[in-house]
Formats: sequence, C-alpha cells, structure tokens
Amino acid sequence: MGKTRCGPRLRSLVVAGLVVWSLIGAGFLTPGHAQEAAADLLERGRYVFALAGGCGCHTAEGGPTNAGGRPLSTPYGAFYGTNITPDPDHGIGAWTDQQIIDSIRLGVRPDGSVMSPVMPYPALSGMSDADVGALVAYLRSLPPVAQANTPHRLSLPFVGLAMRAWRWLFFEPVRAAAQAPQSGIERGAYISQHVAHCQECHTPRRWSGTLDHSRHMAGNPDGIDGELAPNITPDVKTGIGEWSEDDMVTLLRSGFLPDFDNVQGLMALVIEGVPEGGYKDMTDADAQAVARYFKSIPAIEQAVEP
Ligand code: HEC
Repeated sequence: MGKTRCGPRLRSLVVAGLVVWSLIGAGFLTPGHAQEAAADLLERGRYVFALAGGCGCHTAEGGPTNAGGRPLSTPYGAFYGTNITPDPDHGIGAWTDQQIIDSIRLGVRPDGSVMSPVMPYPALSGMSDADVGALVAYLRSLPPVAQANTPHRLSLPFVGLAMRAWRWLFFEPVRAAAQAPQSGIERGAYISQHVAHCQECHTPRRWSGTLDHSRHMAGNPDGIDGELAPNITPDVKTGIGEWSEDDMVTLLRSGFLPDFDNVQGLMALVIEGVPEGGYKDMTDADAQAVARYFKSIPAIEQAVEP
C-alpha cells in the first residue's frame, strides 16, 4: 500500500527535478533571465498602453502622465480622467492586479462602485489576458503622483445608481482570449475594437448612451467634447472609401490626412498619446492590420454633420 502511494509521488519528484535541472542547464532559470522576462513584460505593457492611445484621457494637458484631471465634456456633464498612477492614496497603487484588471475590463472599482461608460470598459473587456496583464505591470512601473481626483461635474441625479443601472442594462462583456490574435485582419479588428477603442468615438450612440452597432464606425456628430468624429467606414461618398491602406497607416503613425492636413482634437490626442506612447508608436504591421480591418467593414452611407 505504502509502495503504491509513494511510487507515483517519487516519480513526479524525480521528473520535476529533472525538468528544473534541464532548465538551469539550458540557461532558462538564471536571475538574468528573470530580469529579462520582467523587462519584456514591461515593454509589452508599454506597447499595449501606446495602442490604447496612451490612455490619453487620464493625463491633463501638460500634466504628469496618468495623474488624471483631464476634463471630457459629454451631454451629461464633465467627467474628469482619474489618477491611474501607482500612488497608493490617490491612484491605483493599493489595488491588486485583479482589481486593476476588473476596473479596465469590467468597469468596477475595488469598493464595488461602477464607472461611467466614458471609461471605455465595454471595449476593453475584450482585451486579452496577456495584454491586460502586461498593461497592469506597465502602469505600476510609472511614477506615482499624489494628486487628488477632480470630482465629475454632472447634470445627472443619483450618478452612482445611474452608472450601476446602465451597466446592468447594457454591458455585455466580450469574452477575452488568453492571447490576442497576432496577425491579419483579426489582429486589426482586435486592436481597433478592444485596445485602441476606435468605435467609442466613431460609432454613433443611441439615446441611452450605448453604441449603435448597426452603424459601426459610421461617425458621431456629437461626440465627447462636442467633437464631430467622422464616418470611417469604406463608404465612398460619406466615409473614407477613397483612402488607400497606406493613407490610414500614415494617419495613425503621424496624424497626417491624405490632403496633408493634421487631424485635431481627440484624434490628435490618441495618436500623439502621452510622452510614453500613443497610436503613433504602432508597428507598421499593426497599423497595416488596422487599415485592412477598416477596408473590410461594411460601408455605411451616413453624412456626419455638426
Ligand atoms: C477619443 C476619440 C477617438 C478615438 C478613440 C479615435 N478617433 Fe479617429 N477621430 C476622432 C475625431 C474627433 C476625429 C476628427 C478630427 C478632426 O476633425 O481633425 C477623428 C478623425 C479620424 C479620421 C479622419 C477621417 C476623415 O475623414 O478626415 C480617421 C481615418 C480616424 N479618425 C480613424 C480612427 C481609427 C482607425 C481609430 C482607432 C485606431 C480612431 N480613429 C480612434 C476621434 C477619435
């Protein structure tokens, strides 16, 4: 009896020992390697941060990165980007990794309160486990800033309750994959919808504030900060049907339109990002994947006028 219980245990110990021994032998388990892995994680996190437009809404103009205070005006009043630096009192320094992940993908804070969908958690809910994990590691690596959040100035009564109700009624989390697609149109769709969140500005909204998915990317005449976000479907008359894939790549990486004008406002913000990164830091391959995705979506004829 003793033999039959001990045998498999001994065997697995020997196997584990052999694995560790061969890993050390192959140089996988040195302290140098652990450091390299940590550096690689941060670099991947920095890139996800850049693809997300440098999380630009969380940095006030000219202010320290991620310290909050940037106003975003909406029909419901002004929301202020919050402090997402690792400061333990004013930022997210005291939150666990899982709590930060839940705030990004599910819109809930550690105290159970619910964020407004101005924070694009419905889009980010589809961010892969690997990407959101790297992003959290990267956010933690930036300097903490002890700056209190500016309270939102809203015209809504019972804001907390309204946010909770909105989320309950309308939020359908996307089932996030462990790993994001790495190439092709799938990669472009993933970046656009679940990291760069293009639809949050470019898809019109219903009365309820939810995105009107039947007009995906067909433009919003009255977006955040009162800005008009153009129709970016391949419709030739009212969208960007005449743009080549290279035109889109150039825009994302430089902010230049095909007529050599610069984009302005929030589009310029997400392209430029913050000093740590923005869409402009997209690799050529990723910018091309986004361009191909936008060629593949249905053309919708919708003139967007102020
Ligand atoms: C935070 C809001 C926001 C996000 C996110 C955003 N955009 Fe924009 N975008 C705008 C606004 C506003 C404009 C208009 C800028 C102007 O008028 O100069 C614009 C302009 C554009 C234009 C120029 C269209 C034209 O006809 O001139 C393209 C193309 C575009 N965006 C593509 C994208 C793509 C692709 C993404 C995601 C990778 C994206 N945008 C994400 C707000 C946004």
